Amino acid sequence: MAKNNETLTIIDNRTGKEYEIPIWEDTIRAMDLRQIKVNEDDFGMMSYDPAYKNTANTKSTITLVDGEKGILRYRGYPIDQLAQNSNTLETAYLVLFGELPNEKELDQWVYDIMHHTILHESLKSLMHAFRYDAHPMGMFISTVAALSTFYPGAKKIDNPEKRLLQIQRLIAKVPTIAAFSYRHSVGLPYAYPDNDLSYAGNFLNMMYKMTEMKYKPHPALEKALDVLFILHMDHEQNCGTAAMRGIGSSQVDPYSAMAGAAAALYGPLHGGANERVLSMLSKIGSKDNIPDFIESVKNGEQRLMGFGHRVYKNYDPRAKIIKGVADDVFKVTGRNPMLDIAIELEGIALEDEYFVSRKLYPNVDFYSGIIYQAMGLPISMFPVMFALPRTVGWLAQWQEMLTDDEQKIARPRQVYLGEGERDFVPMNKR
Ligand code: CMC
Repeated sequence: MAKNNETLTIIDNRTGKEYEIPIWEDTIRAMDLRQIKVNEDDFGMMSYDPAYKNTANTKSTITLVDGEKGILRYRGYPIDQLAQNSNTLETAYLVLFGELPNEKELDQWVYDIMHHTILHESLKSLMHAFRYDAHPMGMFISTVAALSTFYPGAKKIDNPEKRLLQIQRLIAKVPTIAAFSYRHSVGLPYAYPDNDLSYAGNFLNMMYKMTEMKYKPHPALEKALDVLFILHMDHEQNCGTAAMRGIGSSQVDPYSAMAGAAAALYGPLHGGANERVLSMLSKIGSKDNIPDFIESVKNGEQRLMGFGHRVYKNYDPRAKIIKGVADDVFKVTGRNPMLDIAIELEGIALEDEYFVSRKLYPNVDFYSGIIYQAMGLPISMFPVMFALPRTVGWLAQWQEMLTDDEQKIARPRQVYLGEGERDFVPMNKR
């Protein structure tokens, strides 16, 4: 794989031995370090990389994130072009299959997805059994896991047709699960899917339909949701996706793997950050309190939620697009006063040496919650709104992992620093 002159020479100063290691795509293979030993019976050298800060665990052709330049592309297409011109299911097809669909392929794909939107009534009863104040993300994670009990054929992960069927089911059913979890949390009867509507339009229908015969989504909100879904669809090897690949590598069914991925996303440092952004903004309460808040962040008392990213050291391109979507949504819903605090906060942070020197910019979660709140969603629904479209990315990455000959069950190594062997001490001698 490496070109002739692309090698790295390593001299082990413990032994004076020299090793020539191939370089491929600016990367060396960690297994090539294993030959570096002091004694023949040594285990060999490993790399130590907590939190995978500099370790690629896969090759991939799905998503490119260039964090220095603030670039995000799915299958080569810039995110802003997709957000402007595409819709959720068309982009989902691209992310999953690598190319934009032609008209016939898209029609078939839309049909295949929209005919799986209904949940088994027992699954609905299961959701109904949650406490009245259950967090919707907890309901979402549990219900996705429960899907595996309804579709035991999903265990056949080596069969491409069976895989595709589960992919279609999951993409079709996550909006229904998400909407039911919302309606449960506000005590409303669940609204069933309307397959005549678009993917985003149907989601709005299941969220907001009351007594009308046919729900008509507002076109501006439908478009805004499409854009938000596209922006959240994939983001290469983040915590949730790494969980999807890691769990999936044990060859478990995709429902179980995805429940784990969604659980990873729920954390406040990941997809749960959007929930925390809104709590933070309402706690700040007014522009006058921003300087004190910034000081407390700089003193290490708290984090500025919705800021910073492991990969982006530039403005997150998704945050830029979301800021534009906010205006379109507010024309319909009225302006969310939190936006003024957020804009002021961003402006002050981007001028402050603390944030500038650490290259901390707004990420996708900084503005998304403000839009969801304007659409009438409680903040507990925000992580669910992230998980819903990310389903596509998780499944694309899962399928790519399963069809990659080099992948095996994920099993990291450790550097053991504990006690050497010692004899058990009886209770009366401790
Ligand atoms: N507020 C204040 N300081 C920060 C922040 C922040 N939001 N983010 C990073 N820092 C500081 C951090 O204290 C550290 O400073 P120092 O070098 O003095 O110790 C430096 O910046 C580097 O931070 P880090 O924690 O080593 O960086 P990381 O790559 O491990 O963490 C992150 C990335 C996203 C977890 C982090 O920036 C963060 O906690 N942000 C807030 C939560 C958030 O918005 N998460 C959503 C991420 S985007 C959507 C998603 O992927 O789910």
